[in-house]
Amino acid sequence: MTDKINIVFRTADGEVFHVSGAPGTTVMETAIMNDVPGVEAECGGACACATCHVYAPEGVGPAEDEYEKDMLDFAADERRANSRLSCQIELEPSLEGAVFELPRVQI
Ligand code: FES
Repeated sequence: MTDKINIVFRTADGEVFHVSGAPGTTVMETAIMNDVPGVEAECGGACACATCHVYAPEGVGPAEDEYEKDMLDFAADERRANSRLSCQIELEPSLEGAVFELPRVQI
């Protein structure tokens, strides 16, 4: 079992953060634990705020959960086809090296 999974966050300004987290923690939790700016996570991961909006890399599927899709539709600024709520993405080995882009603003 992998101890840590390394992922990358890139801000809208091009600033890059290389971080790692334990398998099973979420991409949002990994950002928060590593002080990555631009992930606010106001609801603490309850899929109820959309301030953990990220643009997911290829390989991370689009949002399938209806509630996540609704939150992205109604709350996420600058929504794109690959928009996800990072509190709904768990770290797993297939995400090793994945790059998550951050929107310019979280609402
Ligand atoms: S932390 Fe609130 S929706 Fe993800």
